[in-house]
Amino acid sequence: MPNRFIVGNWKMHNTISQAETLIRDILAIYRPHPSVELAVAPPHVALQAVDRLLAPTPITLAAQNVCAKDEGAFTGEISPPMLKELGCQYVIIGHSERRHLFGESDEAINEKIHAALRHDLQPIFCIGERLEEREAGQTHSVIQHQLQTGLAGLEPKNLGKVTIAYEPVWAIGTGHAATVEQATEVHAAIRSYLTTHWNLNSEQIRILYGGSVSADNAHALFQSPHINGALVGKACLNSESFVKIAKIAALD
Ligand code: PGA
Repeated sequence: MPNRFIVGNWKMHNTISQAETLIRDILAIYRPHPSVELAVAPPHVALQAVDRLLAPTPITLAAQNVCAKDEGAFTGEISPPMLKELGCQYVIIGHSERRHLFGESDEAINEKIHAALRHDLQPIFCIGERLEEREAGQTHSVIQHQLQTGLAGLEPKNLGKVTIAYEPVWAIGTGHAATVEQATEVHAAIRSYLTTHWNLNSEQIRILYGGSVSADNAHALFQSPHINGALVGKACLNSESFVKIAKIAALD
């Protein structure tokens, strides 16, 4: 496994043709490095077009959401087998926008993680506290609860397939990333929780930081041995800044 993982979460940006343009722009300037895995998470409708362009490259494909059911009367939902057939290797689960704008509970997120793993899709499991929770000194209890409920019932052998993304809600889309110290403190707590409760080696655990990551702050964040990469929102919509972040990850 490369020791750095950079994922671009496009959110609800880019039509199919715009997605193709962005991928072509990325491919024109990106030089893969063995220590970095790069993935993009376009909207569902653009997955097929993006997969075709990425097929001859090492860049991997992620979806932004998945239904916990395999098939059935679930209007508007997309199942794990559908994503698998589209070429997805990863799926983002439990993003704070899904939790807070679409009411996804920890239990629903847990079901999705199980469903993804059943179909060999690797979850990128997002957790993070809100500003009021941080200010009330509840960051660690919130994170621990999200980990406990989100990962409940998982077989230990499957946990190594889960990438954790620590995304403090107050840092997402605000331009105010967590400081290296703040991120490192929480990443270390997540790592220690997982090694203690799941009996994993530290090296088996991949924890990304997300929340206003940019080409300007990536270098500082990647100095932390606890930060294994980044889940990038706004800065991944520009080919130059996204590729620059990947390049910074490789340099360290
Ligand atoms: P941001 O988004 O980089 O725009 O803050 C990150 C995310 O929501 O995953």
